[in-house]
Amino acid sequence: MRLLLATSNPGKVREFQRLLAKAPVEVVTPAEAGLSLDVVEDGETYAANAAKKAVAYARAGDCLALADDSGIEVDALGGRPGVFSARYGGEGLDDEGRNDLLLHELAAIPDEARTARYQAVVAVAWPDGQVELFFGTFEGRIGRERRGTRGFGYDPLFVTAEGRTAAELSDAEKDAISHRGIAMRSAAEYLRGLGS
Ligand code: IMP
Repeated sequence: MRLLLATSNPGKVREFQRLLAKAPVEVVTPAEAGLSLDVVEDGETYAANAAKKAVAYARAGDCLALADDSGIEVDALGGRPGVFSARYGGEGLDDEGRNDLLLHELAAIPDEARTARYQAVVAVAWPDGQVELFFGTFEGRIGRERRGTRGFGYDPLFVTAEGRTAAELSDAEKDAISHRGIAMRSAAEYLRGLGS
């Protein structure tokens, strides 16, 4: 069974391929399928965005498709940036700029109130529009300085329960506890069920 990944982001493609290694599917990227879709992520929830992307790719590729949407929710900011995490501070900022802005917004917030979580929703869609959703949460807090060089996005500031940042974890360590790892393991289990 062919499973089209509804993303062209090389980091996400690698992560998905790693997490789907044992699922009974032939994983293909949009480039391999000759597809280039521009799906606007204008949903109000992670689930709406993930489902929209997965359905668009499943229809275009006439096969199963998998998409995710994710974000970080900071309690002291009332859950912001949430579904807008990739655009926090506006389109002009890169990861560095977004992390600077987050440190700035939290400058006066004491350690015990710097709790945050990553959320992920993975959607698996069929060409007829049917969608299955899988969820994952990764609890942590926002540090006061960057630590670590791995991962991406907010990882250098995201302090895990054991004290290291997500950017100080190996791929395997992050996959084992991360929002996307948790959601993807549920999705992979669902895909394994289809194969039996
Ligand atoms: P999207 O899921 O591609 O729409 O992007 C979600 C955004 O949330 C990313 O651009 C990051 O800013 C942030 N994010 C989601 N998951 C992670 C993670 O595992 N590490 C760091 N940042 C993340």
